[in-house]
Amino acid sequence: MIDSGKVNKMVFGGDYNPEQWDQETRQEDMRLLKLANVDILTLNVFSWAALQKDDDVYDFSDLDSIMEMVRANGFKVCLATSTGAHPAWMAKKYPEILRTEFSGTRRKFGGRHNSCPNSEVFKKFSTKLASKLAERYKDYDNIVAWHISNEYGGACYCENCEKVFRIWLRNKYKTIENLNKAWNTSFWGHTFYAWDEIVVPNIQSEHFGEDRTMFQGISLDYARFNSDSMLENYKAEYEAVKAFTPDIPVTTNLMGFYKLLDYQKWAKYMDFISWDSYPSVSESIEDTAIKHDLMRSLKSGLPFILMEQTPSVTNWQSYNSLKRPGVMRLLSYQAVAHGSDAVMFFQMRRSIGACEKFHGAVIDHAGHENTRVFRECQALGEELKQLGSLTLGARTEAKVAILFDWDNWWAIEYSAGPSVDLKYYDEIMNYYRAFHRRNISVDIISVEVDLSKYRLVIAPLMYMVKGDYDEKLKAYVKNGGTFVTSFFSGIVEEHDLVTVGGYPGKLRELLGIWVEEIDGLPNGKENQFEYQGNTYPARLLCDIMHPEGAEVLGTYQTDFYRNTPVLTKNCYGSGEAYYVGTRSDELFYETFFDQLCNRLNIKPVLNTPKGVEATVRKNENGEFTFVLNHQENEEQVTLNADYTDMITGRKYQKGCILKLEPKAVLILEADNV
Ligand code: GLA
Ligand code: ZN
Repeated sequence: MIDSGKVNKMVFGGDYNPEQWDQETRQEDMRLLKLANVDILTLNVFSWAALQKDDDVYDFSDLDSIMEMVRANGFKVCLATSTGAHPAWMAKKYPEILRTEFSGTRRKFGGRHNSCPNSEVFKKFSTKLASKLAERYKDYDNIVAWHISNEYGGACYCENCEKVFRIWLRNKYKTIENLNKAWNTSFWGHTFYAWDEIVVPNIQSEHFGEDRTMFQGISLDYARFNSDSMLENYKAEYEAVKAFTPDIPVTTNLMGFYKLLDYQKWAKYMDFISWDSYPSVSESIEDTAIKHDLMRSLKSGLPFILMEQTPSVTNWQSYNSLKRPGVMRLLSYQAVAHGSDAVMFFQMRRSIGACEKFHGAVIDHAGHENTRVFRECQALGEELKQLGSLTLGARTEAKVAILFDWDNWWAIEYSAGPSVDLKYYDEIMNYYRAFHRRNISVDIISVEVDLSKYRLVIAPLMYMVKGDYDEKLKAYVKNGGTFVTSFFSGIVEEHDLVTVGGYPGKLRELLGIWVEEIDGLPNGKENQFEYQGNTYPARLLCDIMHPEGAEVLGTYQTDFYRNTPVLTKNCYGSGEAYYVGTRSDELFYETFFDQLCNRLNIKPVLNTPKGVEATVRKNENGEFTFVLNHQENEEQVTLNADYTDMITGRKYQKGCILKLEPKAVLILEADNV
């Protein structure tokens, strides 16, 4: 985490690009940013071309003066390494650093996040720059974090990558026979005899669309390899800066559920998690909430940093609506409510040219402080000062965990059949939503997380069972845990090879069922099932199954599998394992999990009307309840304990009914804890 000894409050600030401005503007910015209560600036995100002019010619003079100015004005710095976009001269001189697209086309210079992760030239120059920056600025005690590159992402399919992919495969499989087995290459006569017969899987080879492949095995390994390649870039720069500044924490800005990079693997190499949140105006509250929950869960519940958000508007969405008055504050606190220890923006001052000139900033094109957005930022900055260090480090105690696994994400969506509409994230959300609506905190966990602290573990669409994860689940349930999984689970092992002998494969014993067939329903067509006297829809996939010890809780109502089980419960050791054999609707998930939570004594933070979110964070200073009214209208909540409002200082007693203005935020400190 950002060194809190240096900043004894939630930091407030964000990306600042003085390289785009003259001296006079920079000086004015110092005044304005202090006025806005900003205390941290992320510097040097895109300055590689300015810093390095040829192989051996570096020029840090401008950055030196920026660093001096910023320090002299009392700002903390999150210092970026600038390697998110390479210089034009480098691309001209070393075309191998350019990426090759999925189509096989080599890109020319342009854009950003544009370097081939496996280019030796890129690797050499990027780590050298990181190392020079760390050596040069190591004595600046106002540097509170390193920001490696920027929003790692995308993929490359060039010849460097192809060669390194073969080495990666060799390390993984040791022999070509093992690889042939893992990819089942006897299908369609794809047997390989030498490593260099293997080519990158793209539109020129195994694919007929980004997500559509004829060989899942190779495509899945390439997804893993691409994520690993960029992770290697990150790690190399991490080592480079740590050599000079071992005590400055290092991060890179993530992007929520970003499919191309396995963030659970990346998180191990990050000192703290930071991420960029850009919800569109139509994004639901829970879609934003779950991203924050994922970020918090990446490092076992440690607070993260909201590295970027727009103070008002983005430029890159199709329709860039303004954040209405109060919404920037509300979304800032939503991040804090879910585990952020900072509120940061992209960006401090609006550019005048290129594609981000219409992106929101604290300082607008008008260039002064008399704007709505500036005033809202300033007011939020003031509040964060007032909150001080009280909430820093506070944790969320979730009793419920939802498994989210990148290998499953890739494999499910590469799968040819049983439905093109099968989307991992959508299925996760069907489950998450039921808890979010009830203000029950959820951790979004990887397969490595210890399950024993959870009362309920849910793994929707656990198509792939990796390693001995089935054993871990069995032990968890045996010891009293409750486990819920869904249709299309337990189908394959980690190479995407089917576990034969009956679905759900390695989960069969735990669930006490055998799934014989899977019926894919076209969009718009549905079956129904009965559960506790009510009828719910069965959509997308319908598993046709036989109980093998499990109790049947629900049965289909139509079609040739009428009266057969769809929902089951298996008692296993001292716990229970549930199977939901189809996709249903919101009402079903809410009803089902309400009952389960009641039985497991998992309680909501607070009962609130729809559209009002409540979370709790705790630390040694106390227990903090966040109540956020996302609605356009006034709402009310009844308090369940005695509280002090941390912003106004007002005292409230248990049972008191509070009115919440539209977009209101309450931060309540529990009395008597
Ligand atoms: C990303 C980038 C920033 C900026 C913003 C604009 O998050 O990291 O450099 O481009 O998007 O929304
Ligand atoms: Zn490449």
